[in-house]
Amino acid sequence: MLSVIFNYIYAFKLAAEINKHIFLSFCLSFFCLLSTAESQVVGPHQPVVALVDDDVILPCHVEPAEDVTAEILEWTRSDLNPRFVHVWRSGQDLVNTRNPSYRGRSSLFINELKRGNISLKLSRVKLSDGGTYECSIPLMEKKSFVKLVVGKSLLISLSGTDENRGGVVLQCESAGWYPEPELLWLDGEGNLLSAGPTETLRGPDDLYTVSSRVTVEKRHSNNINCRVQQKQISKSRETHKHVPGKYRL
Ligand SMILES: *[C@@H]1O[C@H](CO)[C@@H](O)[C@H](O)[C@H]1NC(C)=O
Repeated sequence: MLSVIFNYIYAFKLAAEINKHIFLSFCLSFFCLLSTAESQVVGPHQPVVALVDDDVILPCHVEPAEDVTAEILEWTRSDLNPRFVHVWRSGQDLVNTRNPSYRGRSSLFINELKRGNISLKLSRVKLSDGGTYECSIPLMEKKSFVKLVVGKSLLISLSGTDENRGGVVLQCESAGWYPEPELLWLDGEGNLLSAGPTETLRGPDDLYTVSSRVTVEKRHSNNINCRVQQKQISKSRETHKHVPGKYRL
């Protein structure tokens, strides 16, 4: 009789233990799910744009912010061999495995790592730096992509002096822009001139070329400027044309 009671108590305790384990492991996996769902590596929504020889920051950070100084951090480009652009391990830069084309040109903001900021600075950007970068914390299986677009030049060529009923036709063309810029014609006093529509071409490299023509009449001031500007990236280029003397008043 006594043993039956003991068995009963024992079985009850055992069941409680098992329940506790189930409860605990349920809790653990629940928290694991919760934390993987919450913490993530975040890059920019838009491509990053730079010109050759600029310094540029490729943004990437952990959300919510947590100290990643002790993590392995990798910036890679899957189209390169070796694919490593920058590697951080054991609290320092790992230089040996990196792709030679980035030697001495990439750096992390070490003081920012404790705030979860893994942004990479690239110095003296080259055309070949254009591409898709992956910013990752491999052991946490977290990553994000950052696209870098590198503009060749924002040069303006001003050409054409087709004579046309007492005027001169000037053409302005500017290549290597991203995002799409606007093109303006201005006279010597900075007043807008009315011109034909701006033609826009987008190359396979995602960069825009814009061009436009304007007819300068005799009575206009003989200093003409073509300005191409992109306000979002605060860049502009301007070129100047002195229309030959015979068109002076
Ligand atoms: C990360 O650090 C860089 C360099 O200081 C800064 O430009 C960027 O805004 C920072 N990003 C975040 C999310 O704090």
